[in-house]
Amino acid sequence: MSFILWICIIGFLVQPGKSQDEDLMDILLPYSSFARGPHFSHRHVRDCQPVKYGNVTHETTLPGAKNDSVPLIETKYFTTPNEISQGHVTFVQDPARHVSVLEPGKEGGCTAENDGNYTRATVAKSGERKKCLVAVNAGFFNTTTGDCYGNVVSDGKLAKDGKGIQNSHFGVKKNGELYFGYVTEEEVLSGDFDQLVAGVLWLVRNGEIYVNESEKAECADTQETGTLNTFINVLSARAAVGVDAMGRLVIAHVDGRTRSRGMTLHDFAQLLIDFGVVNAINLDGGGSMTYVSNGTVINYPSDYCSRDSKLYRCPRRVSTIVCVHDGGNTPVETTDAPNEATQTQSGMALLIVIYLVSCLINGL
Ligand SMILES: *[C@@H]1O[C@H](CO)[C@@H](O)[C@H](O)[C@H]1NC(C)=O
Ligand SMILES: *[C@@H]1O[C@H](CO)[C@@H](O)[C@H](O)[C@H]1NC(C)=O
Ligand SMILES: *[C@@H]1O[C@H](CO)[C@@H](O)[C@H](O)[C@H]1NC(C)=O
Ligand SMILES: *[C@@H]1O[C@H](CO)[C@@H](O)[C@H](O)[C@H]1NC(C)=O
Ligand SMILES: *[C@@H]1O[C@H](CO)[C@@H](O)[C@H](O)[C@H]1NC(C)=O
Ligand SMILES: *[C@@H]1O[C@H](CO)[C@@H](O)[C@H](O)[C@H]1NC(C)=O
Repeated sequence: MSFILWICIIGFLVQPGKSQDEDLMDILLPYSSFARGPHFSHRHVRDCQPVKYGNVTHETTLPGAKNDSVPLIETKYFTTPNEISQGHVTFVQDPARHVSVLEPGKEGGCTAENDGNYTRATVAKSGERKKCLVAVNAGFFNTTTGDCYGNVVSDGKLAKDGKGIQNSHFGVKKNGELYFGYVTEEEVLSGDFDQLVAGVLWLVRNGEIYVNESEKAECADTQETGTLNTFINVLSARAAVGVDAMGRLVIAHVDGRTRSRGMTLHDFAQLLIDFGVVNAINLDGGGSMTYVSNGTVINYPSDYCSRDSKLYRCPRRVSTIVCVHDGGNTPVETTDAPNEATQTQSGMALLIVIYLVSCLINGL
């Protein structure tokens, strides 16, 4: 009798704080007390990276020249080597024009605070306003409040200052360069970024798997070592954003359910290399993982829809997204507008001339 009691007590202790939400949601967290990510200086990242990189903590790539023999935007799908999970990979030419980081739900979704509640929205919903052709969940967030973690720059606007957080970032600079790695707060505030969002862990650096190195860099706190290591080695749904050797932006995901199917980050990084990726960072995964094509969810998200039935799965309301759209980032829209106005003005002038001429003719 007391033996059974002990088993119950031990079982209870081994499952600390398993809330009702965890039954419903496929929670995959890199840190156990992730308030604002790793609390250390950029110097730590510089000091603990392999010597060959010197003090350079990021990689930048200028997008390749447009190649007309491959599609502008191309999505392919695949199955993992064990045939259990599926995923999609999208290649985008001319990414500076076609890619935006978007805040959840609306512009200001990362800052609009309502008594500690932040905006969250499904990837499809957040992608509506930019008519995204492909959209994927991006940044990590506080699963209780929705607070966006890391730095967020969306179409040139600083939406969230990560206060020097040292997690891997993906960015598009004003000069069109794609950026992967660790940013300093000065770089963020310099206004050099058009798009910027934080992931956790740098998967591929210069064509090599960089998971072990970035684990060291993004885990200063020894308390978090176990959690971050589990995050890396557990099977789960994964998402990444990267760049290939042709200078195309690459978005890839694999479906899964934490602990039962999906991929470890080491295997996911190798898969990205097989796709031709040379630099890539890891985005939010687990139940957040949602891949939307032109408004339709085309992957299999892993959160249950409701507590009452385990029959259906539903896309989670998440934080920031990476959106591939038809081009026309802000500059294009603003140059279109005056043209329309001039056309209307010349149209009006023509009407007035016709009116005056017809008055003259009538008068004669
Ligand atoms: C999320 O935010 C709440 C409220 O600010 C905080 O108490 C909690 O620790 C945060 N959760 C995590 C995982 O940091
Ligand atoms: C990085 O290293 C280069 C060459 O060693 C040096 O000139 C530069 O000042 C260093 N930058 C920083 C931020 O330490
Ligand atoms: C354009 O794409 C084709 C097909 O993938 C490839 O063979 C060719 O090398 C590419 N050209 C350039 C300039 O990258
Ligand atoms: C914040 O969210 C909680 C939980 O969903 C809710 O009970 C509360 O009313 C919300 N507060 C505001 C101001 O919206
Ligand atoms: C990463 O670290 C693990 C555990 O220390 C080791 O087994 C593995 O070989 C390392 N991978 C690479 C690519 O160095
Ligand atoms: C996206 O959806 C819209 C409206 O449903 C449709 O007009 C458009 O052709 C679609 N675009 C692509 C690339 O599938």
